[in-house]
Amino acid sequence: MATSTPYGIKLAVHLIVNDFGNIVSKVCECLLRRGTLSKALICRFTDLPQDKVKKSLWVLIQHNCVQAFALEQEGGGRDTTVVVTQYMVLFNNIIHRLRFSKFATLATNDLDKEVFEILEGLLQHGRLTLTQILDRALDSHSGGNKDTHRETFIKLVQNRFVERCPAVEPLIALPTDGETPAKKGGGRSKKSKKEVTLEERALAAAIPMDAERFSITSDDGIDSDEEKKEKLSGLKVGEKRKQRKVEWDSELDIMGGKKEPVWRVNFDEFINRLRIKACVEYARAEYDNAAAVILGSMLEGTKRTESEVSLSLDSIFEEVIKSKEGLTMNLERVRSSLEQLDFCSEVDDTYSVNLKDIIQKAQLEEVESIVKKRYGIEAFRMFRSLSNGRPLDTDKISDRTFVDKKITPQILYKLWKDNYIQMEKVTTGGPRQTDFFLWRIKKDNLWHQILDELYHAALNLSLRYVHEVDQDREILNLSAEKAPPEVVKRKERLKKVRILLDSSLMKLDDAIMLFHDFL
Ligand SMILES: *[C@@H]1O[C@H](CO)[C@@H](O)[C@H](O)[C@H]1NC(C)=O
Repeated sequence: MATSTPYGIKLAVHLIVNDFGNIVSKVCECLLRRGTLSKALICRFTDLPQDKVKKSLWVLIQHNCVQAFALEQEGGGRDTTVVVTQYMVLFNNIIHRLRFSKFATLATNDLDKEVFEILEGLLQHGRLTLTQILDRALDSHSGGNKDTHRETFIKLVQNRFVERCPAVEPLIALPTDGETPAKKGGGRSKKSKKEVTLEERALAAAIPMDAERFSITSDDGIDSDEEKKEKLSGLKVGEKRKQRKVEWDSELDIMGGKKEPVWRVNFDEFINRLRIKACVEYARAEYDNAAAVILGSMLEGTKRTESEVSLSLDSIFEEVIKSKEGLTMNLERVRSSLEQLDFCSEVDDTYSVNLKDIIQKAQLEEVESIVKKRYGIEAFRMFRSLSNGRPLDTDKISDRTFVDKKITPQILYKLWKDNYIQMEKVTTGGPRQTDFFLWRIKKDNLWHQILDELYHAALNLSLRYVHEVDQDREILNLSAEKAPPEVVKRKERLKKVRILLDSSLMKLDDAIMLFHDFL
């Protein structure tokens, strides 16, 4: 599960309060702060009655902010088990709510304007069946008939912008005998395998396999009971045999016995495409348009799970000239452009780029620009001299950055006080003891702190935005018919402020994704 930070949680709670009110957000906050829980425990911790908790969980599941799973546990007696439904919060999906407008813009740019209607419906409602999607699109009077809307929907699924919803409540069974000793068994994969959390297992079990996840064909098919059970438990056919038979009363009948599959927006795909775009923009800013075009051609179709892309010069060229901007480039131009990219390596005319490298470089630049904005150009140079992670003493920093020897410690102290750099006092031995200070950047800690600051700033902006909207509403109520000129003026000012706030928030969110979603 993705780690969140204190202000990340506050921002998530704020977003839920805004959209779903206080009770739902109370349940959500409880899960954000305490982790995965059963309904009984949520009731206990929130002091809310059962039915309110249940309704809140439904809302959160409907909007893809919570995933339920049925957890088999040892029962009281010997050889007995009980199954308890657990609820895990999906922090990332809550923060994605900030980005809905970005997602809609991206899809309309990559595909066409027609997809907006359907996408908007899914973003607003969280989960819908195809019938609901089509009805809604028809009601919106955006033009188009059922057939064109259905085609648009198919296009969205084929491009992976829309997917089938995960299983509502997959069963996570106790490991059967012979499965458990994986850890003790010889230590084969001792160091390489990261411990898989319960939440990760539940998510993996809930998400349908690719073939089903983006399949439209069996759409109105009526599944047999056996198939339905299988789907609900999220087990693949092969795995099924290994599982003991477990009966449980599902706590959630959220589908209400609906036969039709339910669809939702596939956030992964959007984040993946935004990640590629961020890399391309980084290349444009660092190098030039040609570099951006070439990198964009190389990364087209890259999946989020891949970080390294290798292509021969010829295939890169082929891709490049497909684009409008690339049409004028010749092979030599592409080669020389590739060679200047410091995140690109070459062996035998095969060029490789590592997306992780690019993201990390972009992160460092973001941090440096924050330092520059907040502490000035000299602090920026000093910070930069430390950015490779190696410690330096005060004098060396001053020498390397041409910052006055008297001012250097003051600036370093400021950076240290805000936790941007670490300090270590070193005493040299020998007859003439002297003290000096070593300074360094601890990247992991600092990046985490920066992310928290970004969440904090986003929360501030979002609160301000809500405040402005409230003011606007007040004015709207105030002026019934003909608004006096000062009211008109005030409304215009508020509109400008809102646009400004919104665009600042979107920029901030770009930085949040850079630190949280792209690696
Ligand atoms: C957020 O707002 C609070 C109160 O107005 C302020 O103290 C804080 O510095 C702001 N934080 C950020 C990161 O903008």
